[in-house]
Order: sequence, then structure tokens, then C-alpha cells
Amino acid sequence: MRLTLKSNLLLGISCLLGYTGLAQDYEAQVEALMAKMTLEEKIGQTVMYSGEWDQTGPYVGTDNMKYIREGHMGAMLNAFTVEGTRDLQKAAVEESRLGIPLLFGYDVIHGHRTIFPINLGLAASWDLKLIEDTSRIAAEEASAEGIHWTFAPMVDISRDPRWGRISEGPGEDVFLGSEIGKAYVKGFQGDDLSKFNTILACAKHFVAYGAAQAGRDYHTTNMSEGELRNVYLPPFKATIDAGVETFMSAFNELNGVPTSGNKFTLRDILQDEWGYNGFVVSDYTSINEMIPHGYAADGKDAARIGMNAGVDMDMMGSVYRLYLKELIEEGKVDQAIVEDACRRILLAKFKLGLFEDPYRYIDQDREDTTKYKPEFLAKAREAAASSSVLLQNKNSALPLSKNAKSVAFIGPLVKDHYDIIGNWAAKGDRKGKAVSVFEGISEYLKADQILYAKGCEILKDDESGFEEAIEISKQADAIVLVMGEGHHMSGEAASRTNIRIPGIQPKLIKKIREANPDKNITLVLMNGRPLNLSNEVDLVDAILEIWFPGTMGGAGTADVLFGAYNPSGKLTVTFPRNVGQVPIYYNMKNTGRPIPETNPKEDYKSNYIDAPNSPLFVFGHGLSYTSFEYSDFKLSSDKLTFNEALKASVTITNTGDMDGYEIAQLYVHDVVGSVTRPVKELKGFEKVFLKKGESKTVSFTISAEDLKFYNSEMIYGVEPGTFEIAIEPSSDFKFTNSFELVND
Ligand code: NOJ
Repeated sequence: MRLTLKSNLLLGISCLLGYTGLAQDYEAQVEALMAKMTLEEKIGQTVMYSGEWDQTGPYVGTDNMKYIREGHMGAMLNAFTVEGTRDLQKAAVEESRLGIPLLFGYDVIHGHRTIFPINLGLAASWDLKLIEDTSRIAAEEASAEGIHWTFAPMVDISRDPRWGRISEGPGEDVFLGSEIGKAYVKGFQGDDLSKFNTILACAKHFVAYGAAQAGRDYHTTNMSEGELRNVYLPPFKATIDAGVETFMSAFNELNGVPTSGNKFTLRDILQDEWGYNGFVVSDYTSINEMIPHGYAADGKDAARIGMNAGVDMDMMGSVYRLYLKELIEEGKVDQAIVEDACRRILLAKFKLGLFEDPYRYIDQDREDTTKYKPEFLAKAREAAASSSVLLQNKNSALPLSKNAKSVAFIGPLVKDHYDIIGNWAAKGDRKGKAVSVFEGISEYLKADQILYAKGCEILKDDESGFEEAIEISKQADAIVLVMGEGHHMSGEAASRTNIRIPGIQPKLIKKIREANPDKNITLVLMNGRPLNLSNEVDLVDAILEIWFPGTMGGAGTADVLFGAYNPSGKLTVTFPRNVGQVPIYYNMKNTGRPIPETNPKEDYKSNYIDAPNSPLFVFGHGLSYTSFEYSDFKLSSDKLTFNEALKASVTITNTGDMDGYEIAQLYVHDVVGSVTRPVKELKGFEKVFLKKGESKTVSFTISAEDLKFYNSEMIYGVEPGTFEIAIEPSSDFKFTNSFELVND
């Protein structure tokens, strides 16, 4: 019997099918539906193909309509807009035997239409509420175009700026990355998934993808189980605590076993240890990629390994559709495993309310009225401003004065609309909507105060624009260079071995400084990774890191440049002095031969002979136009027992001339452990607003729970002993206080 659903008859029909829309009935309803499904239809739920609205991986030709009508496809990526998804959904619910609705997924990574700063930039705001708000807005816009599911957040910790995908994640820190992951999930999924404006989130890429060897995308990862559990897994666990509904396996192998066929991570840890009950989708053809990895003999073998390991849905690979039935018949895959995958996927569809109304996300009015709402754009402007990080501000070069006779704006990114919204910018309008830096500054300066020259391209070698750029720089009171990477230079498959500002831009910076030895020069940087700025720090006065700041990026940047917004962002990744220091991150381990403070060059110590060990800009660094003083650090006790908590507090005073935000960071150091512990670990932070002259006390509570780690037996626990502790403006400090963790 073919079941036909028409939107106006939905209520009656969903009752007829027994879909009550009540959460307590979902599981029973999944079972009732599965009782009617053939094995092929169950396998069909585990199959995902791409629509034509976007391409986010190598082209794979598919026969989508055929599979939909046959009930041999459960989900689609890269399909959205009301018009497009309506036709596809109609085919699924009206033309397939059981009318099971499709699930539409898309990479809504840092916005859907209204694009926010890239995720590494958003992280630099250290503002969890802001991050939640941006993903809420992204969900509003995406859900209004038929999208049920985003492939975000990416919670891959990365400590390698060569890796292009560092731009998509939270940065290098475990604690901060975990908090950020939770904020995204809350924003996307809201408090009730059955609402029409909430979407499934997806924690990716499980796991250790950010540790790719030599920073080359898709490359091998090799690490101890301790490193995996202490560094790479916690942000994923945090998303589960926040209720994330889906996971994505990754492309990389981990200790010899590809993560899309890795029973240890997918079954033992994710399902058994963590009790995860959502579903796992593969990455784009990552099941098939176990063949070139040398782990599967052919497509059929890959399907066997992927399904048995716990990957419930095959994105683009076709191997589940082609081989699962055969594998079950041959006894190589247990049918119960496939049924479990199908059950998990159907449950997600029930939670979204798709069985009550498969067209719930397909509403022309909502699509027409939801994109680029003024309040979304206002949030994007705020996000751009609060994600920017003032790395350096010699001679108080910033903020700029609105009364300057003239300011020269030079560089390939001054008038750019295209790169400014960054990589993975979903359906952000690069032409019509993105506000360039030039447009942003035009709100603050009159036309006759602005001098402009492009100077050069990001990557080409043509120096013919140098002369004009140098000429206008000489005429101006102040100089602002807007330079950096193209948006395609970070993101997937965009690793770099050279992390300097690309092309001939550095040469132009040098020439402009030579022509203007005494003028204030500001470098505004757009980029998707930490760059090596070792040369530029001496050539320019101010450096404002704006990442790829999004649709309202130019406006938010101008707010910072002219002091309407006092910069408050801080780095969540270390900026090295040169690529040879990589990997470099603040919470490294010590060595047995640390360099002595008094003689850093001493022989036979752990140092480089050609560069200091320290980075150029540390984790947690970021300046403000005002200054903050930290005083009166207090600990409620110098002893902490296993059952009680300790309070650490500090007074922060705004000692400068401008109101502003400060991000106070709590660090601890477990001095002696049964396995060595990092030299510093972030355990808390607070972003606090202080009027000029104002003081506030910031306090944190620490309990034994916060000090736990996996020891060499992989036991998660805490060990008594001395812990150093500090509350500081960045990770660049020396501990002077400590407490003892003691048995009760
Ligand atoms: C491959 C990427 O690794 C992943 O992050 C993304 O979600 C999928 N392609 C789908 O576009």
C-alpha cells in the first residue's frame, strides 16, 4: 500500500499512522514503522547523497529521484531552499512506499545567509552567549530554507596552523573548546527540536582530525590514548552533555585505524562509555577512503567495516546502498546493527517532528522573511567587532581619529566583498550583502578623508600597483593596510607549509614603512589561521587580527578601528615566530631540561639555536584601548579536599581612558603527577565589562572534579598534591600561588 501525505491532510494522516508528536511515543513509533519496513528500506535510511545546490566534496553522480522514490535514501546534503526541498520531500512522502520523510543536511558552519566571523574568530570573542546567539540565528535562517541538520560544530582541537581547518574550530584549548562546542549545540538545537526553527547539530570530526601529521589535511594521526582522552575527546564529550543529536566520523586514521571504521572510538568510547544514542554519519566518502588508507580491500569490505564499527549513515559513498544487504546475507554484518542504525536515524526524524509534518521546515513565507533580518545583521556586526584581536598597538596607533585630514587604506582586501565572509560560508551572499572594510570606514570618514590604493593582489606577483600605494601613503596622516589570505587559503584541503602573509604583500608593507618612517601604520589582517608575523611586528605599529569577519565584517572592523568598540578578543591559538616551532601551544609539557630563565642560551637545554622557544603571540593574548590591572589575588584556602570547593578571586581595575571588556583567565598547574601534566591548563574564564576607573572582583570555584585527568591506566581521576594557580589576562605569566589537594 502506498501512503500518500498531502500537507492539508497531514494532521489526519499522521494520526492515522499513529504519529502522536509526543516525545514519549517516539521510540514505540519508530518500532511500529520499522515493523513495516523491508530490509532494503531500512538500509535506505542509512544512505545520504548530495543535491545540486552546493558541492562540498569530489563530484559523485547519483540518481537521487530514483533512490528517493524507491525508499533507498534517507538523507540529503547540499539541498535547501523551500522550492528545492519541497519537491524532494514530496517525492519521499508521496511517492515512496512508506512515505518516510527525508532529512536535509548542510554545512551551516558560521552562519547560513547572515555570515558571522569564521569559527576561530568567534572563539576569540570568548563570549559563549554570542556564539550561542550566532548559531541560533544560523538555525533560524537555515531551517527557513528546508534544512533540518547542520554539520557543525567542528570541535577538533588543533595546534597546527599549517592545517587549513584550524579556521573552523575553537582553537588549541581543551576547556575552552568544550565550552564553545556546548554553546554551538545549544544555539543550533535550541531547547526543543520539534520546533520548526531548531536543527540537529553534529559534532565533528570524530576524532583527532585536528592532529593531522605535518598539518596536511586528511593525514595520519598518531597519539597515545592518554593524549586522545585528555585533549582530543573532551570537546566531543561536552557536546553530548549539551545534547548533541549527531556525530560525524572523520577522514583521518588514528593509530593505524581509520576513524570511519574505528570500533574503539565509535563503539567502545562513544556508545559504551558515553552512552551516546544519536546517530553517526560518515564524512564525505570517508568509508570508501578506507580503501586507499589500506584498511579495506574494496567497497564491500569498507561497508562491512564502517557499519560494524558504528557509522550509521554513509555520506556519498554508496557502499551501504550497494553492499549491506549482501553483507547481511553472508553473515558479515549482523542485521541487528543495521536496524540499530536505521532506528537511530528515524528517531532523529521523529524528534524533528518530520513524521507529524514533513513540510514543517518548508514554508515560503518564513523563507522570504527570515534571511538577513536587521537584528541578525546587527549581531553579525557585534560578532565581527568582538572577535577581532588587537595583537599590537605601538604608539597608540589605534583607534584612528575621525578628524584625521586623511587616512590611506591600502591592500587587496580593503574593498573586498568576496573573501571577507571566509570559507564554509554556506549561502552567504558574497556580492550583494557583504560589507567591505572600505564601506565600513566610510561610516566614519568623509570621502575626502579617504585615500585608497589596492597595491597588489593576495597571491600574484605584479608590483605595478606599488607606486600608487606608496604615493598615497605619503600623503596620509595615518596608514591602514588591509591584507592577508584569500578565503580559499584556509578550510578543507587548504593546508600551507608557509604561514607568512602570502604573495608580495609583505614586500609592499616593507616599502610603505620605508617611505613613511615616522607615520603610524596599522595592519588589519584577514586570515584563517595563525600567521608568522615575525617581520611585520617590527614594520607596523598596530596589528588588528579580524580573521574573516563575515557579512558585517567591514562595519564591525570599522567600529574597532575608530574606537566605537573597544577591542576585547583574545587569541585561542598560539601565533608562532616561525613554522619550525609548530606544533606550539601554551599547555605543553615541560622537559627534563627546561631553559633556565637567567641563561636561556645555556648548553644542553631544550631550546632552539636559531629562535626562542616562546611564540610571537601567546594563547589568551589580546590588547584593549584601555588598560587593566590585576590585584589582590585571593584563595579561600590553601587546601582543597576531594569533597569541597575552593574559591579563587582577583580584582581587576580599568586603569585606562576607555570603557571595555577584559577576559580574565584561570589557570592551574598540577606540579607532580603519576603522568606528567601540562605546564598550564585553562580551567575557567570570565569576560567582564569595566567602565574606566571601575574595579570588579572576578571569582572562580575549583573543585577536585576540575583537576581530573586520565592517568597511564586510563583511569579518570585526580591525584593529591600541589597545584599552582593564577588568574591572568593571558597565558604569559609565572605562577606565584598554589594550594594543596588533600585527602579528606
Ligand atoms: C567534508 C568535510 O570534512 C565535512 O566537514 C563536511 O561536513 C562534509 N564534507 C559535507 O560537506
